[in-house]
Amino acid sequence: YYCRRGVRHLCDSGISRLPGKYVLPASDRPGQAAAVGSVKLPVVDLSRLRIPSERAAVLRTLDAACRDYGFFQVVNHGVDGELVSSMLDVARRFFALPFEVRKRYMSPDVRAPVRYGTSFNQVNDAVLCWRDFLKLVCMPLAAVVPSWPDAPVDLRGVASGYAEANQRLFMEIMEAALEALGLGVSGASVLEDLAVGSQMMTVNCYPECPQPELTLGMPPHSDYGFLTLVLQDEVEGLQVMHSGDWLTVEPLPGSFVVNVGDHLEILSNGRYRSVLHRVRVNGRRPRVSVASFHSVAAERAVGPAAELVDDEHNPRRYMDTDFATFLAYLASAVGNHKSFLHSRR
Ligand code: SIN
Ligand code: FE2
Repeated sequence: YYCRRGVRHLCDSGISRLPGKYVLPASDRPGQAAAVGSVKLPVVDLSRLRIPSERAAVLRTLDAACRDYGFFQVVNHGVDGELVSSMLDVARRFFALPFEVRKRYMSPDVRAPVRYGTSFNQVNDAVLCWRDFLKLVCMPLAAVVPSWPDAPVDLRGVASGYAEANQRLFMEIMEAALEALGLGVSGASVLEDLAVGSQMMTVNCYPECPQPELTLGMPPHSDYGFLTLVLQDEVEGLQVMHSGDWLTVEPLPGSFVVNVGDHLEILSNGRYRSVLHRVRVNGRRPRVSVASFHSVAAERAVGPAAELVDDEHNPRRYMDTDFATFLAYLASAVGNHKSFLHSRR
């Protein structure tokens, strides 16, 4: 029962060993320090994307990153640095609030506009993850903000400003990705759907862990949606599966990590890849991150773009999918590799 209060609360009550509920089976443990070390993901310079003579070259970098890694980092993105540091700061202060305050936002309803929770999917995770989170639905923004936490006092103001800036940045990167895929007319219609689509933000806290080699902050999974924009602090933890190895994403100050989600892999008929990633924890310092998930509205179906499918060379590789299908998958996903995408092939 005490595990359902979350990891922050567990640490604050003073533990020296990892409780059994968090110990992964040996084959799923993260192992010792990554053999491959940390990597700089491909870097996409958004200021160059805005210069007409350089746009094509930047689109090639983006296209290669989405095919090879499913991940890249964006720099010179134009989101105000003060806003970004305020977001991380208010995130830290939220998790430092007394448990009694945080607990007001606990909800078993995955559709609730605000939800405080722990682990990955605390209802059916056999082994719990070393993560607490605050999930905020961000669209339509004006309608949902009043239900967000009113503590810390600046959370609503900062997080709503951040959500707005994040959505703008997402739209700009999506427009580039659709252009790189060569989706003219159908790309424009996808953008229209995304402009009135869904946006959700997960504020994550991974406290320092007494036995980090036995557990994970997040199990291997791929993301639902088109793109995820991750703001990570200076503490390493995010790892990406690439050619059979777990690569640690080196925190690059002032950047966002961007990854292809299941919907974009489906739309691209497999040209772009929604890859497995996970989060390691460490024994020294807590880590905070903010992941923003963007997609079309829940009732809209997503399928491969007609331009990218032809019966001879590029047969359709995915079924159409919508949010209801995803929820049904989540309710049944008890394994340790959480990839909705594989259920759509
Ligand atoms: C994720 O959302 O998959 C990971 C975010 C993080 O880096 O903590
Ligand atoms: Fe993720």
